[in-house]
Amino acid sequence: MEQIFLSPRSSCFWTTRPAVAPYQIMKRYLVTGASRGIGRAIAEKLAASDVELLLHGRDTVALADVCNSLKPRCARVVRLIHDLAVTSGVSDLIAQAGKDPLDLLVNNAGVAIVKPFGEITRVEWEQTLGVNVTAPFLLTQHLAQNMPPGSSIVNILSIAAKTGFPNWSAYCMSKFALEGFSQSVREELRDRKIRVINVYPAATDTNIWNNIEGEWPRKKMISPEEVASAVAYALSRPAEVALENITLSNLTGNL
Ligand SMILES: NC(=O)c1ccc[n+]([C@@H]2O[C@H](COP(=O)([O-])OP(=O)(O)OC[C@H]3O[C@@H](n4cnc5c(N)ncnc54)[C@H](OP(=O)(O)O)[C@@H]3O)[C@@H](O)[C@H]2O)c1
Repeated sequence: MEQIFLSPRSSCFWTTRPAVAPYQIMKRYLVTGASRGIGRAIAEKLAASDVELLLHGRDTVALADVCNSLKPRCARVVRLIHDLAVTSGVSDLIAQAGKDPLDLLVNNAGVAIVKPFGEITRVEWEQTLGVNVTAPFLLTQHLAQNMPPGSSIVNILSIAAKTGFPNWSAYCMSKFALEGFSQSVREELRDRKIRVINVYPAATDTNIWNNIEGEWPRKKMISPEEVASAVAYALSRPAEVALENITLSNLTGNL
């Protein structure tokens, strides 16, 4: 059943939406890399009847699966398919996200090229920088302009944002860079009452490990759902409370 929905911040006053209570204020959340892993788990955790979810990925089949499964639980689900390794993909994503303000931006999409630094190709280096650094920089720069007080930006970093590991130089470089950016932006946005929440998961059991050479004990990894729960908890705090840095690891030790 469709109901008439009054969207106070929308560019058009009246729009039709599926089964949302009339006059309920809609929240708009954008999650990058929501087609699988941690991004998908975050999208699943944040799905609610008063939420419009903008879910990004590249894999059209996987993203369609996430969107279809969440549609019944959300006011609206929008699919955004763009390659974030190239700036034109980021610009297209920003354009498709539209001018209506976001209440939440989750910079989650990421890649991990793991090999001795002497073997990293220029293309791999640029891809790592593009997805892990330039994309969150541009998304934050463009989308934060319009975000209202009480909104939040979540950056999925890593314990590799604080510690170097052999063969992880490109990845660590990108996460250290995002860490510096996030910490600085947090201070710039404080006056506007926008929270910047940085999340530092240890090894998490997702497909990112499928293409990394070596034996990686999945049983010692935390689950993507645990990362998503931590994000949801930080977001659920009162707007004036900033739970700003969250490190998650396996109690019995990381890899
Ligand atoms: N898993 C871990 O151990 C771990 C630990 C700490 C931090 N993290 C961070 O958590 C975030 C999510 O990782 P994950 O473990 O969930 O990995 P994942 O399962 O491999 O998912 C990565 C996501 O990023 C998207 N992505 C990758 N390259 C992209 C590109 N060029 N353009 C657009 N989207 C792209 C993927 O989209 P498509 O599949 O649709 O291409 C996918 O949705 C990353 O930032 C990662 O660094 C992971």
